[in-house]
Amino acid sequence: MTRLQDVINNRRSIYQFTDEIVDDEILQQALLAASNAPCHKHTHPWKFYILGNDIRKKLIPTITKLANIKSEKMQSKNFESNVERAINKIVQPPLLVAVTSKKSHDDKFREKEDYAASVCALHNMVLSLWENGVGAQWSTGSITRDLQTYSTLSIDYESEEIIGFVKAGYPVKVREVKKKALSEIVTYLD
Ligand SMILES: Cc1cc2nc3c(=O)[nH]c(=O)nc-3n(C[C@H](O)[C@H](O)[C@H](O)COP(=O)(O)O)c2cc1C
Repeated sequence: MTRLQDVINNRRSIYQFTDEIVDDEILQQALLAASNAPCHKHTHPWKFYILGNDIRKKLIPTITKLANIKSEKMQSKNFESNVERAINKIVQPPLLVAVTSKKSHDDKFREKEDYAASVCALHNMVLSLWENGVGAQWSTGSITRDLQTYSTLSIDYESEEIIGFVKAGYPVKVREVKKKALSEIVTYLD
């Protein structure tokens, strides 16, 4: 049996996925894990939008626009390949999930707590996927923040914030990441 400690400590962000399809049972387990995250005042502020192939294709004009803006800013000469790479990042992952958190215009503290809860839900989803051998990457790239994305996905910008896209699938490779030693981040106060 997999130990929760190992799932947590061995998880890494995955940037390249094989084309193998992720079984729906694995996705449903991950969504259930997400739904069991803690949330103050039982607000359940999170929503999960599973993005299929057709809706991803509808994002291509926005991806192209953003990739061209980035190329211009970076004075890159490779506009075409930059656009191709940006499109592939959205089209290729076997699973793509937009995660949103509820906005509260009149209560910024509630919104902050709800964001914290939605982050817990998102990470529960990622850990559940990882336990099943499926890697994921949380992305907050410009596509997740563009107003056109909200309208393409029919997400109401006034009431929900896209906190990220989770790309997921079976890993091509798992990178090593150096984390800080506990002595650098922990202080004991007597
Ligand atoms: C809020 C958040 C946003 C992130 N957005 C991006 C992103 O836009 N692009 C990206 O390549 N990685 C993104 N990441 C992944 C981080 O780069 C990754 O977690 C970090 O390199 C540490 O690696 P690890 O997840 O394997 O421990 C994001 C992570 C978090 C927590």
